[in-house]
Amino acid sequence: MRTDVRRGEAIAARDRGFVERIRQRLNRIRTSGYRVLRAEQDETQRLRARVLNRVRELGRTYEDGNSDLLGYTYHPIPFDGFEHLNAHRRECEDRLRAILEALTIRSGDWILDVGANVGFFAFSLARRGAIVEAYEPQSASFEIGAALSKLYKSDVLYINRGLSVAGLRYLRPHYRAILLLSAFHWIVKQEGDEAAARVLQDLGRRTDVIFFEVPASSADGMFRHADFVSRQSIEAYLARVLPGFAVVALFEDGAWADRPLYAIRRAGA
Ligand SMILES: C[S@@+](CC[C@H](N)C(=O)[O-])C[C@H]1O[C@@H](n2cnc3c(N)ncnc32)[C@H](O)[C@@H]1O
Repeated sequence: MRTDVRRGEAIAARDRGFVERIRQRLNRIRTSGYRVLRAEQDETQRLRARVLNRVRELGRTYEDGNSDLLGYTYHPIPFDGFEHLNAHRRECEDRLRAILEALTIRSGDWILDVGANVGFFAFSLARRGAIVEAYEPQSASFEIGAALSKLYKSDVLYINRGLSVAGLRYLRPHYRAILLLSAFHWIVKQEGDEAAARVLQDLGRRTDVIFFEVPASSADGMFRHADFVSRQSIEAYLARVLPGFAVVALFEDGAWADRPLYAIRRAGA
């Protein structure tokens, strides 16, 4: 009886092997046919096509801090050949200039860009010698950034995650600078007040300087919070959450609801 069972199992295994070999042979024929019929693009064309296809996906659903218009990126893609694309916040040069005036980048400095979107700041800083860790939870924006990074061989490492308390353990012990540009209020929304404050305190310990921007008016932003309604309320929030840090206003973006940009450093640093 047991011998019959074993023989049955051996026959079934042989039949499964036979079916699998046939399946692979058919898939090989299908693959060869596909390669003959479809003119292959080189990797540059493929990456560029991926960027343009993902841009078309933006705005299809609304995700925290992302585009609410079809085919719009939040900020411009900073490479030639993408100028024709729509961006909500076209004027980003002044914010970049304000950051560069407050930050000396040495080649190989690590910078963390939280909410990197399609990489306007990440690529601009990498171009000046930084290695940038770019956190971007929105998958289409992430794929755009990751494809651009590969296409232009840039030192920007994209990560398809949002920053959270749980994610702090993935961070490096030290960054030359951390960018929290129009991203921190989303962390407050997602994590709650207390946890978000812990994220900010943790980031403060890991860096020489945080560049910080949140809405500064009750009429600005898709997520409203009592601490982010005026410059006074933002500065009071930062004094409460980051005592012992110096907060310096660098710039106010007249083209974007007057959002102020701050540099936050440990006092005395
Ligand atoms: C308003 S955009 C700002 C983009 C860019 N930092 C700037 O100021 O031009 C906010 C970005 O933060 C991202 N974001 C939302 N929640 C986040 C989180 N928990 N961690 C990191 N990024 C987040 C969004 O996907 C979006 O790309």
